[in-house]
Amino acid sequence: MGKKLIVCNWKMNKPTVGVDSYISSLKHTNVIVLPPSPYFHQLNNYPITIGAQCISAHTSGSYTGELSADIAASAGCQYTLIGHSERRTHWHESRHQLSEQYQRALEHNITPIICLGETEEQRRAGESETVINEQIDSFRPLINFDQLIFAYEPVWAIGSKQAASTDAVEHIHSLIKSQTHSNTPVLYGGSVDLTNCTDFLNSQWVDGLLIGRASLDINIINQIASLC
Ligand code: PGA
Repeated sequence: MGKKLIVCNWKMNKPTVGVDSYISSLKHTNVIVLPPSPYFHQLNNYPITIGAQCISAHTSGSYTGELSADIAASAGCQYTLIGHSERRTHWHESRHQLSEQYQRALEHNITPIICLGETEEQRRAGESETVINEQIDSFRPLINFDQLIFAYEPVWAIGSKQAASTDAVEHIHSLIKSQTHSNTPVLYGGSVDLTNCTDFLNSQWVDGLLIGRASLDINIINQIASLC
């Protein structure tokens, strides 16, 4: 793999400087932006790579508020998150729904970024590895190693003040690669910022970063992307 990937998950937020200023100030081609879906077309005015924060398990039809893989692809999305812990928690997305979403993404040549990660409780109970293995297994019959990215995002590190340690991240990333395919990229996400990104980016086990809050600041993203 070439440069490490920097995936910006804006969640349900606008960047601090506004959408056009943010994108026109973006200096790096290894950055993928996942905006709220009404911004897809605005972002298509710029030579950048975009993706969706989630897609529907359904193909089309009467599913109010859902975004199909077909529509996401025609709006220029080349990637989609699948199984972000906020979707698993607040929308109770089941294993079956996640594997259907994964299928829908592949049908439309959208690269799935499958999010994996244990809760604080599971970590304390020493269950991190078991949880990650189970999450991978729920996709296993379908996995297409040529078109897939994993993101290790410990639930306790997302939106907190504490990222996982580089050692812990390397351990889980090596586990994911050993369970799947050594060439499958594995990103780290969870409280990544300017103070901790260098260690992750210097690690041979980390193929890129999935960034939430810090991704709303274009100066931070340009600085992080310049380190790759
Ligand atoms: P955070 O979010 O960087 O704000 O912790 C990461 C994510 O949820 O993808």
